[in-house]
Amino acid sequence: MELVTAQGPILEEILDATFPVWHEGLTRDAYARWNAAQLRTTWGVDHLRRFALLDDRGRWVASAKRYLWPIRLDGVAAVMCGVGAVFTRPEERGQGYGAMIIERLIEQSRREGAAIAGLFSEIGDRFYQRLGFRTVPLDEVDVQVERRNGAPAMLVRSGEQRDLPALASMHATRSADVRFVLRRDPPLIEYALAKKRLLAGLGQGAGSRAQRQTEFFVAEEGASAVAYVLLTVSPSGWTLEEAGDRDPAGARLGAILQVLLAREPSRAAPLIRAWWPPGMPAPPQVRLENRVPARDIFMLRPIADVRIPSRAEEVFYWRSDYF
Ligand SMILES: CC(C)(COP(=O)(O)OP(=O)(O)OC[C@H]1O[C@@H](n2cnc3c(N)ncnc32)[C@H](O)[C@@H]1OP(=O)(O)O)[C@@H](O)C(=O)NCCC(=O)NCCS
Repeated sequence: MELVTAQGPILEEILDATFPVWHEGLTRDAYARWNAAQLRTTWGVDHLRRFALLDDRGRWVASAKRYLWPIRLDGVAAVMCGVGAVFTRPEERGQGYGAMIIERLIEQSRREGAAIAGLFSEIGDRFYQRLGFRTVPLDEVDVQVERRNGAPAMLVRSGEQRDLPALASMHATRSADVRFVLRRDPPLIEYALAKKRLLAGLGQGAGSRAQRQTEFFVAEEGASAVAYVLLTVSPSGWTLEEAGDRDPAGARLGAILQVLLAREPSRAAPLIRAWWPPGMPAPPQVRLENRVPARDIFMLRPIADVRIPSRAEEVFYWRSDYF
C-alpha cells in the first residue's frame, strides 16, 4: 500500500466520493473550488495536504486530509498532526483501510516532528478510541448579551488584513496560562478567516443550507484593533467563531456584540453559540449559559512523550479552528 498526495484524476474521484458527505450545501463545482482554495492560502500551502492510500494496483482505497497545526502544550511549542475527512471507498470498507491511512499519516507526521495527533470525530468515539485517541472535552455555550437602548459609543469597523497581528497577540496573551492551545499567527488566522469567507461566498445562491455570512469586526483605539469578533451568521443564528480583547475584563468585546445587536433593535436577539474557552473571561455585558459538551468530539493521541489534556479548562480552542 502506498500513501501519496491526492491530485489529478485521483483527487477528482475522491471529491466525487466525499461530496455527498461534506458538501456543506455547495454545488460539486463549488465544493472542489472551496477545497482547492484552502490549499492555496499562505498557511494552507505549508500545513494542509490531502493524501490517498493506493492499493497494489494503484487504485485509491482511502483518503484523508492532514494538517500540521502549530500548538503549545505545557509551555512547549510543538506540532499536532490533524487528521480530517477520513474516507474509505464504500465497497472497500471494513478491511482496515480507514485505520491504516490514519496510522500512516501519524507515523509520517511523527517523523516530521509532530508530538500529538488530533481530530474531530463525526462518528462517535469508539473507532478512534481503538486507535489510541481520547476525547478532550470542549464546551459549547449560549452567549447572552445584555441589550442596551442604542449602541455603546465606540468605534467598531470591519476587520482587515492589517489587524491580524493584533488578533494573534490578543490570542497569545489570553491563552498564555492554558496547557493546550494553537499557536495562532497571522497566516493561520487568515486561513481560518478565508475558509469561512470562501464557504459563505461559494454558497451564495446555492439554497438555504448554504446561506451563511462571515462577519469580522474590530474595536479600534489609536488605529489598532483592541478587541474583535468573527461570526458566522446563518438562518439558525450566530456562531461566535472566535473573539478577543486586549484587556482581560473584555469590556470592549462585550461592547462590540452590543453594537452589532443594536443594528437591528426591533428584532429578537439571535441565538449566539460559541465554544467559549474556559480560560477566557466573560465580558461584563455577557452571560454564558447552557454550558454543554460540544457536539463535535475532539480527540487527541500522544505520539511523543507528552501528556494530553483531559479537562475543558486545560484547552483554549475556538470553533474557528475546527477541521
Ligand atoms: C469511517 C470510515 C472512514 C471507516 O473506514 P474503514 O476503512 O471501513 O475503517 P476500518 O476498516 O479501519 O474500521 C471499520 C470500523 O469503522 C467503524 N465505523 C465505520 N463507520 C462508522 C460510523 N458511521 N460510526 C461509527 N463507527 C464507524 C466501525 O467501528 C467499523 O468496525 P466494524 O466494521 O467492526 O463495525 C468509513 O466508514 C467512511 O469512509 N465513512 C464515511 C465518511 C466518514 O464518516 N468519515 C469519518 C469522519 S470523522
